Amino acid sequence: MDDFSAGDFAALWAQINPIGRAADDGGGYLRYAFGAADMALRDWFRGQADRRDMPVTEDGNGNLFAWWGSPWADGTVLTGSHFDSVPHGGGYDGPLGIVSGLLAVDVLRNRGVTPDRPLAVAAFAEEEGARFGVPCLGSRLLTGALDPADAAKLTDAGGVSVAEALGRTPAGARPDLLDRLSAVVELHVEQGRALDAPVGVASAIWPHGRWRFDFAGTGDHAGTTRMADRHDPMLTYAYTVLAANKEARLSGAQATMGRIVVEPNATNAIPAVVRGWLDARAADAATLDQLVAAVRTRAADRARRDGTRVEMHTESRSAEVSFDPVLTRRLSALLGDAPILPTGAGHDAGVLSTHVPTAMLFVRNPTGVSHAPGEHASDADCAAGVAALARVLEDLT
Ligand code: GLV
Ligand code: MN
Ligand code: MN
Ligand code: MN
Repeated sequence: MDDFSAGDFAALWAQINPIGRAADDGGGYLRYAFGAADMALRDWFRGQADRRDMPVTEDGNGNLFAWWGSPWADGTVLTGSHFDSVPHGGGYDGPLGIVSGLLAVDVLRNRGVTPDRPLAVAAFAEEEGARFGVPCLGSRLLTGALDPADAAKLTDAGGVSVAEALGRTPAGARPDLLDRLSAVVELHVEQGRALDAPVGVASAIWPHGRWRFDFAGTGDHAGTTRMADRHDPMLTYAYTVLAANKEARLSGAQATMGRIVVEPNATNAIPAVVRGWLDARAADAATLDQLVAAVRTRAADRARRDGTRVEMHTESRSAEVSFDPVLTRRLSALLGDAPILPTGAGHDAGVLSTHVPTAMLFVRNPTGVSHAPGEHASDADCAAGVAALARVLEDLT
């Protein structure tokens, strides 16, 4: 393991660390799919692949693949992750898996390893869904979990569609590529407070999803409308946030309402419309479904009291993922009985796991914070992650 050092990791990491860093007080990174920072990172990826004599292919869905060996030959082993971030997100969520993939190739080459199977380092598009609303957009398109015609029409806050951002209608399902994969291993920074060793192995991803609540009321004057005469959708929304929190606490699940759009969004006007997004996750699908149904019922009951209206729309839903148990145990054993842990965070590896034997490696996050600027991983732990990934890829190729 000592043929790769913290300094080796830090040297390459320093190249991407400044890209997309927020200049304002929010801190963290603003790396939206196909935006300026993401495009700079994708260019950087192409350049790094080129330096390693790794040809780069694209799958018609915005996903990039750098190749050691013949592209899409049978038995390909795929690693990688995503460059895009949530607004003011951490620097490691995503890019760490791609940089580690490139560095693992270096480690194996320095050791004189010649893989028997092709190895691909992937950069998946729009994993966070921060721009177009649907997480794991690139991997869902690749696997056929998302219809390309539906995906093409998704728009960002400025009205730009996926088709416009991509410069084409997405190609959609590519069984011709997927069927050639023998294994997928995504390395990712751990995103909670669950890992107390430098490297762990994922067992499962909780089922999760995103639901949009549209609350409609009557816009009116803040000074002249008596309290008793109001139909204020913000009130219904606020009650729904509290209800989601309470229902999640009661069921041991997680519920977050972290995004809101208000119209007209004026200090001195009662809003006419409030849109709020619920992100909900639970250890099993039944608990998740009960949670979402309970929030919906309580929002509707409250809307009747407030004289407002509420509609709920499912924007995405991800089933529970159990990573390949044989592969997971094999990786853990290979890494000296590395801890095996589940996660509440979604990943492209989860989408791919329905088609290919898939596993994940996690690198310790000492702050336990993610999707926020405080996310961190030490250079030493990241180097341990690269060494672990190299070992796993050597074993699988
Ligand atoms: C993506 O990182 C998610 O879990 O929301
Ligand atoms: Mn994320
Ligand atoms: Mn991620
Ligand atoms: Mn994720």
